[in-house]
Amino acid sequence: MSKSAPRTGNPKSPSRKIPQSATTPPDARLAGALQIRPVRRGDLNAVTEMDAMVTGIEKRDYWNSLYHRYANAVATGQHFLVATSNDEVIGFVIGEVRDWEFGSPPCGWVFAIDVRPDVRLAGTATHLLQAICQGFKRAGVSKVRTLLSRENTLILSFFRSQGMMIGPFIPLEMDLES
Ligand SMILES: CC(C)(COP(=O)(O)OP(=O)(O)OC[C@H]1O[C@@H](n2cnc3c(N)ncnc32)[C@H](O)[C@@H]1OP(=O)(O)O)[C@@H](O)C(=O)NCCC(=O)NCCS
Repeated sequence: MSKSAPRTGNPKSPSRKIPQSATTPPDARLAGALQIRPVRRGDLNAVTEMDAMVTGIEKRDYWNSLYHRYANAVATGQHFLVATSNDEVIGFVIGEVRDWEFGSPPCGWVFAIDVRPDVRLAGTATHLLQAICQGFKRAGVSKVRTLLSRENTLILSFFRSQGMMIGPFIPLEMDLES
């Protein structure tokens, strides 16, 4: 039996490079070519509605405040990117470089990624993740991490498909007494 390759890196496409603002030809499930670019104020409604569709909770103030903190903050390692097709926002990703958190050297953290349900499985999230990872690399870090809910097997399948593996940290929590 031949030895299989080590299961690290990105099994989808180890060397595909996607700049932060890039256009790829349309997948059959998308209305037009896919573009990844930094978020603009005019995208916020679509982002808020997409998140409400996925989580069932509308958090307009939260998304406004994230926009203020992350839009135009690439220089400080923060990224808020959207995916568009035919000028419509169909997905987004948010993350940032965090220095020495939990004692670890600076690394990129992805803390939100969503694609509109009607255009999933067309490679949009893959492109969003690759674009934000390139931003992290440009900032000089060589590792990306995320945290996800144990029950969310969909997001787990997605991150595993991109080559992400269990990391060295254990999340802990407790209730605070009132
Ligand atoms: C997870 C999510 C971002 C994936 O978006 P997407 O654009 O459909 O992903 P892609 O098309 O790039 O899929 C890449 C790979 O992920 C895996 N994947 C994606 N959706 C999957 C599904 N429903 N079942 C199993 N694997 C899946 C597959 O391996 C897929 O590759 P393949 O199509 O070659 O099989 C999207 O389903 C989503 O927004 N889900 C809700 C996210 C969420 O819960 N967010 C809140 C916490 S941040």
